[in-house]
Amino acid sequence: MRFHVMTLFPSIFEAYMNESIMKKAIESEKIEVNIYNIRDFSTNKHKKVDDYPFGGGAGMVMTPQPIYDTYKHIVQKYNIQNPRVIYLTPKGKVFNQSMAQEFSSEEDIILLCGHYEGIDERIIDLIVTHEISIGDYVLTGGELPALIVIDSISRLIPGVLGQEESFTEETFKDNLLEYPQYTRPREFMGHTVPDVLLSGNHKMIDEWRRNKSIEITLKRRPDLIKEAKLTDKEKKYVEK
Ligand code: ADE
Repeated sequence: MRFHVMTLFPSIFEAYMNESIMKKAIESEKIEVNIYNIRDFSTNKHKKVDDYPFGGGAGMVMTPQPIYDTYKHIVQKYNIQNPRVIYLTPKGKVFNQSMAQEFSSEEDIILLCGHYEGIDERIIDLIVTHEISIGDYVLTGGELPALIVIDSISRLIPGVLGQEESFTEETFKDNLLEYPQYTRPREFMGHTVPDVLLSGNHKMIDEWRRNKSIEITLKRRPDLIKEAKLTDKEKKYVEK
């Protein structure tokens, strides 16, 4: 899977991609992350990339030419037939795990990071296929959201997570939040590990974890429960 990021701040990506699981995923060629500085594609003699909004108003708007030329460069260089272009914006559809799942089967994904008051709408008309928000709050730019989207898609690509990490991944499995985890010591500051986890009875442990997952999801995210895969018995419990 290749990610292509169009940004005015490339160094933000270089730092994140040089650590931990992302670094390993790149080194083992499971993913490729190519960063393009939109400013490099500006034909303006001062390399300008923004201008005042027509109609007036506060802030600056990113001009279409440098973004369009960056996009053309990527699509031509990699011969991308049906480009998926994600524009990160608080106006977008809110990102979730099933969207990450869907994107993880793409060969190439292009991400566009906005800044200032946004980008010229004609870029959205011409090249953007998906407008995505990472949540109902406003950030200063699309770089952190792009990293979040890249990270969540990458960890779904086979071989990116070690076997152990992917096996223990539980949150959002069946649309439920993950059960609580404990490790040594058995007692910490007077708080003990639930007995069932020390029992060695795996059927009981699985049951306890499943119940905890349902309980915590009901409490914190009742909106998720509607889509959760529950047994008939569990459904009755949830409806009570
Ligand atoms: N740019 C600024 N805020 C954002 C958000 N919440 N999601 C995606 N892109 C953004």
